[in-house]
Amino acid sequence: MKIIDNISELKEEIKHLKGSIGLVPTMGALHLGHKSLIDKAVGENDNVIVSVFVNPIQFAIGEDLDKYPRQLEKDCELCRNSGVAIVFAPSPKEMYSGDKNSLTLICPPYQLVDKLCGKSRPGHFDGVCSVVAKLFNLSKANKAYFGQKDAQQLFIIQKMVKDLNFDIEIISCPIVREEDNLALSSRNKYLTSNERKVALNISKALFSAKEEVKKGANKRNLIDNSLNIMQNLDVEYIEFVDKNTFEFQQEIDKNTLMLIAARTPDTNTRLIDNILLWE
Ligand code: PAJ
Repeated sequence: MKIIDNISELKEEIKHLKGSIGLVPTMGALHLGHKSLIDKAVGENDNVIVSVFVNPIQFAIGEDLDKYPRQLEKDCELCRNSGVAIVFAPSPKEMYSGDKNSLTLICPPYQLVDKLCGKSRPGHFDGVCSVVAKLFNLSKANKAYFGQKDAQQLFIIQKMVKDLNFDIEIISCPIVREEDNLALSSRNKYLTSNERKVALNISKALFSAKEEVKKGANKRNLIDNSLNIMQNLDVEYIEFVDKNTFEFQQEIDKNTLMLIAARTPDTNTRLIDNILLWE
């Protein structure tokens, strides 16, 4: 396995790869959620490239860019054991010639970013799309793997690929959870042991909603029930969108994706999760 931190070396290495290329973009601090994407990519491609890059232009001022967990050596170990061909781990300087204002960016449509995570994280999805587009161009990948955990991100990237005719297939991968249903996230590392328990109420609310829908609950019932379960969290949103359009829904139907973002009480860690209510 090659560990590469600069673009010219990456380009040179890719020239010599034979067969198909799968790309798994990450910000590192790899966990079993990331590993599920990597394993799928290794199963479906001749060569897999994992990028490990804490992308500064997708963090707003005051967010956790500086404290975001970085553990490249451990990440490389996981990649090596999983059969990855190349780990691409550039510095911000290698990726960007200047600050965000000086760069050409890809900005997804307003109606997709002015809601859910985009609403509380202005500029976030510009940063995500811009780095992902660069990684698509650099890796020359045939397929790229993204998790349903970040459902809005996945939808926006699929839209970008369609609108800009990127020659790449986006593979959507299911959410990996702990045994007690907490969705795996690099940010779970921030949680105190008390918060770890409290954070569980996010997935509890989602799975409970799925049960309530079977009994005929409507949107109002689901919101009330969820708020009740998440009393110890600072809930940012509980929303319902059509999984095919990401438009808000007034009524629950077979396409409803329920999404939650909430902050924990001590470390103010922002966690997200979602569930298809009729799966
Ligand atoms: P990161 O948060 O590191 O996530 C990398 C990929 O892993 C994303 O596609 C995310 O949806 C997926 N992932 C994270 N937790 C998961 C889980 N529990 N189950 C399944 N998949 C999971 O998302 C980013 O990085 C960045 O925004 C990035 C796309 C790399 C651009 O910088």
